[in-house]
Amino acid sequence: MPPPLAARLVELAQFGATEHGIDRRLFGAADAGARRLFVSWARASNYVIEQDRVGNVFARRPGRRVGAAILSGSHLDTVPTGGPYDGAYGAVAALCALEELDAAGIVTEHPIEAVAWAGEEGSRFPLGCLGSGAFAGLNDLHAIEALVDEDGVSFGAARAAAHGLLSDVPVRDGFPVPAGYVELHIEQGPVLEHRGARLGVVTAIAGQAHFDVEVHGESGHAGTVPMELRRDALSSAAELILQLEAAAAHIGEAVLTVGRLTVFPNQTNVIPGRVVFRIDARSVDEMRLDALRAAVTACAERVAGQRDVRIDVTPIEKRCAVAMDPRLRAAVAEAVTELGEVPFDLPSGAGHDAMCVATIAPAAMIFVPSAGGRSHVGNEYTTPDDLALGVSALTRSIAAIDRLLAKES
Ligand code: GLV
Ligand code: MN
Ligand code: MN
Repeated sequence: MPPPLAARLVELAQFGATEHGIDRRLFGAADAGARRLFVSWARASNYVIEQDRVGNVFARRPGRRVGAAILSGSHLDTVPTGGPYDGAYGAVAALCALEELDAAGIVTEHPIEAVAWAGEEGSRFPLGCLGSGAFAGLNDLHAIEALVDEDGVSFGAARAAAHGLLSDVPVRDGFPVPAGYVELHIEQGPVLEHRGARLGVVTAIAGQAHFDVEVHGESGHAGTVPMELRRDALSSAAELILQLEAAAAHIGEAVLTVGRLTVFPNQTNVIPGRVVFRIDARSVDEMRLDALRAAVTACAERVAGQRDVRIDVTPIEKRCAVAMDPRLRAAVAEAVTELGEVPFDLPSGAGHDAMCVATIAPAAMIFVPSAGGRSHVGNEYTTPDDLALGVSALTRSIAAIDRLLAKES
């Protein structure tokens, strides 16, 4: 008998455990440990295991037909203060779903693959959905090779080092286009809990735009320079951030966050001369996302003029909002109904690997509730019953999607 989902998640959570949560960044020791554990479970269940050249790991359960597989999975990396379920749940649940298909003696038409995507969080290299984006052809491979982490280590070097690609797993050629994709994930927000729903069917995933901003003012002595003669980079950054917050609220159905900011020289008695920060802007509506992007440029120009500082804005990442496939959504909703639950439609403000895969294949997502809507924090929590219900919904959805796509081809 394979270990149950809950025990697997506990075991996985030991990789990268810190006092602030889980820190499992791509190609670090903890990430490699998590990928090895995923592979060991898949091997014990006799699936065919491969990785691709960006570090995505696949466990294949054959179907009647040879050819394009239906994929299900999520990521094993975390933000530096992550919880035990964001990503890990969907990757492990996909393996459990394959095992449930085995146990039920169900033979699918398509091969089904459980996948652990590499580097979804962008915590080490500055690119979110790195593995699934490369898989979907959205991220240029040469550009990925050249990405560097904060210590100046390139993606290519990290991949070749001890915690990079797994030494005992074959590396497949290219990125075979799947027949379909379904991802199970915790909601990471409060809506399902608030509405008393146990299974969400995702309608669309918000688009994202990220920018690096550098504010150049003038450093000086904190005691001697009169207020009216200062060109304080941090005050300017603060003003810009507040203007952007107001712009997002004004645009509506859009969010904007500055979660990372560095002050130079970061000394009590020195006027900040330079500030570097990153903007994360999102909306499921592309027009609103465009309006946010325009606001970033306009507000930066205004604050620079008013405060006599230089503000450089560099767009670093843009992912379009994507709708989930209506036929796959209907198949998921049917699976949820069979389990005696009412499917609850909702959009995802969080980014997911599904947003990349959806650009090359029909895709769907299932959400389970997050206690208090908490995520990207160490005390993320979903009840064991909801976690198990999600796996049942995923198994049934995979079987239903297999039937649907087999009929169409
Ligand atoms: C990933 O978790 C994201 O939404 O940024
Ligand atoms: Mn996340
Ligand atoms: Mn995630």
